[in-house]
Amino acid sequence: MTRHLLTLDSLGRDGILANLALATDLKSRKGMAQNAIPGGRVGLIFEKPSLRTRVSFTNAAWGLGMLPMTLGTDELQFGKRESIPDTARVLSRYLDALVIRTFQQSLVEELAAHATIPIINALTDDHHPCQALADVMTFQEEFGDFKGLRLAFVGDGNNVCQSLIQAAGYLGFTLAISTPEGYEPKAEIVAAAQANCAVNGGAIELGHDVKAAVRGADAVYTDVWASMGQEKEREERARIFAGYRVDGELMALAAPRAIFLHCLPAHRGDEVTDEVMDGPQSRAFDEAENRWYTEQALLYALITGKDRLPE
Ligand code: CP
Ligand code: NVA
Repeated sequence: MTRHLLTLDSLGRDGILANLALATDLKSRKGMAQNAIPGGRVGLIFEKPSLRTRVSFTNAAWGLGMLPMTLGTDELQFGKRESIPDTARVLSRYLDALVIRTFQQSLVEELAAHATIPIINALTDDHHPCQALADVMTFQEEFGDFKGLRLAFVGDGNNVCQSLIQAAGYLGFTLAISTPEGYEPKAEIVAAAQANCAVNGGAIELGHDVKAAVRGADAVYTDVWASMGQEKEREERARIFAGYRVDGELMALAAPRAIFLHCLPAHRGDEVTDEVMDGPQSRAFDEAENRWYTEQALLYALITGKDRLPE
């Protein structure tokens, strides 16, 4: 059966840990493993803007010996020019994997249902699993282990937050989420992760008190207040989220060893201040770099079914 990455549920605990181990190996090789999938081809589709995901997947593919191909959405006309199942069937004849960023999670799932190549979710309105892999790699580099770790997520209970919730459930760390009322993550994603925490350790805590979430945390994470596709809500959200800015005063409540994380792009002055973004606790750019190696490990594992590079 073809393996996909639709949400972190597609990998589970063992798959995530295997991804981190291979990503660490690839990082030590600076992403150069061109004997891994020579002659392979990966398609990249972006129905929303991207900097990191586009460049990191392109680097990842090239470093494995693959040809990365960006497919323009104007040409593809997803679901309009031909059906989604037929698009999936045709691309499966040409490519070894397809990476897609789109709006609805159901589109990624529909592609996966009809493709015979791995489909990789590069962000939907509900999930950003590739981001969460880089995030947990960055924690692991900093702290070594996930046991007993407390991460505070401040802001919108959005796609990034929901993938982190899944990661916390599988890896067993505590995720303390603080959102404005009405911007909480989906209850079913929280409940599923809480069930996983009961087995793996850690917890998912929800609340609206930003200081309570951050106090004693080992890492503080935030994301933009208005995600791609929510541009019209930007002013309204800026009012509602004003108390959820990560600044030096808030960071001072976290543990002395705490790091700051952000998936980027950052809207400096909104969800995070320059002081924090550019300060000594920030690991936001390490996190962006780690997208490359975790995605490279993912491509390799999904395409070959193996967790280790050839000798
Ligand atoms: N963090 C992230 O996914 O960045 P891009 O939107 O630039 O790809
Ligand atoms: N929540 C953000 C993440 C960007 C990487 C968005 O969806 O726009």
